[in-house]
Amino acid sequence: MQNNMDLKSLDLKQEPPVKEPERQYYYIAKCRELVGQKAKTLGRSLTYHVTTFGCQMNARDSEKLTGILEQAGFAEVQDEQADFVIYNTCTVRENANLKVYGHLGLLKHAKKSNPHMHIALCGCMMQEPEVVEKLKKSYRFVDLIFGTHNIFKFAELLAKMLESGEQIIDIWDGTKEIVEELPVERKYPFKSGVNIMFGCNNFCSYCIVPYVRGRERSRKPEDIVREIESLAADGVSEIMLLGQNVNSYGKTLKDPVSFAALLRQAEKVEGIARIRFMTSHPKDLSDELIQVMKESKKVCRHLHLPLQSGSTRILKAMNRKYTKEQYLDLTEKIRREIPDISLTTDIIVGFPGETEEDFQETLDVVRRVCYDNAYTFIYSKRTGTPAAVMENQVPEEEVKSRFDRLLALVQENARAQTARFAGTVQEVLIEEVNEHDSSLLTGRMSNNLLVHFPGDAALIGSIRNVRLDVCKGFYYMGTLVSNL
Ligand code: 5AD
Ligand code: SF4
Repeated sequence: MQNNMDLKSLDLKQEPPVKEPERQYYYIAKCRELVGQKAKTLGRSLTYHVTTFGCQMNARDSEKLTGILEQAGFAEVQDEQADFVIYNTCTVRENANLKVYGHLGLLKHAKKSNPHMHIALCGCMMQEPEVVEKLKKSYRFVDLIFGTHNIFKFAELLAKMLESGEQIIDIWDGTKEIVEELPVERKYPFKSGVNIMFGCNNFCSYCIVPYVRGRERSRKPEDIVREIESLAADGVSEIMLLGQNVNSYGKTLKDPVSFAALLRQAEKVEGIARIRFMTSHPKDLSDELIQVMKESKKVCRHLHLPLQSGSTRILKAMNRKYTKEQYLDLTEKIRREIPDISLTTDIIVGFPGETEEDFQETLDVVRRVCYDNAYTFIYSKRTGTPAAVMENQVPEEEVKSRFDRLLALVQENARAQTARFAGTVQEVLIEEVNEHDSSLLTGRMSNNLLVHFPGDAALIGSIRNVRLDVCKGFYYMGTLVSNL
């Protein structure tokens, strides 16, 4: 990473370079100049706030936005009363969109009391044409709008926004480009996401992601490994490899590489103690991957394997490309090979045409797999997806009843699964001071469970042994037992 590129040496009187990432560094320097001038006039520094909605991919993208804002000379503040506020949006379910409009209503008032305020929107929701139309019409106070494909151009767009008083909108339909080596500001010094691929080619019939994140593109393994090495050199001990479907990593590269092979390479990086990844599609989870996980000391004991539905009929309508039996066989194999693994999942209830019998199939899978945790969602109709025009949308009360029954079972399982570690000593990565009680620290186990225990904040970022004393349902209270 070139976080320390010498911006002062760039000559802003010259035309901007055409090549990336040099072009963006030119614009970062330009922003720095503009921000500096404005700060001088105001007699104070300019502030920023990034609000992130959605998944880990978005969280990682926000770290990239933050990296650029920091280098441009803005100072971070913890609330949305800032000179520059940016929302990195999600659109996976309707709720995510509604939240953004809710926030925008509040920002409109904030902008009235701070005439220097700029508001920007980016991310998945901006890739929907009807959203952009609505913003153009009814949200004129938003200064900058861009999408997922041109996020690497943020510095350039920011410079344009700072120079002009116009509303700037730049949305691309897609891209083949992956721009490496832009600045990033991590939220945690000791752990980091690492994008390994972008986009998705699966087209599950309910899902908007392939439309807003575009076609699958993998980063080259050497670029990924270089990034991991530089993260390790910078004090990172846990990485999370990120992709919409990591199991199809590398298939579209000029020299194809499997995800399992990439994991083996990542594992060799010294200083990295833990490797996580997100998300796996069951249809192409290979035996080679199970083998690598089994043999590895670094790959964490956690697999997130979205089920979506337990009914083969619904899975077919969802275009998931596996049956109930295939999913069960796969999870059995994983539990047999790696007994201490924690399995988590995503489940949708109320997909069009789902009957009580279909739902019972879902409950059956949940009972059999006994997930360590499951994220349950009510089906949300997304315009433009095949499922949005399917008949037999399930009545709301029926969906609600199914959702409640599923949640009760999922929680019962999660409690039982969590309890199985009581009394054991586990290695935890200490992440933060407990939110509610500052005498406690919070650490994460390899299997993703959290434990809270008394300790000194100086331990944050280190991996320690903690005994799991009391199971509190979905987490533990514990005691630090020794230094490693
Ligand atoms: N409605 C409800 N849940 C959805 N998900 C994706 N699309 C939808 C939708 N239209 C859920 C899936 C996915 C998770 C990230 O979000 O379960 O795995
Ligand atoms: Fe939301 Fe999907 Fe975009 Fe992540 S990739 S922010 S889940 S729409």
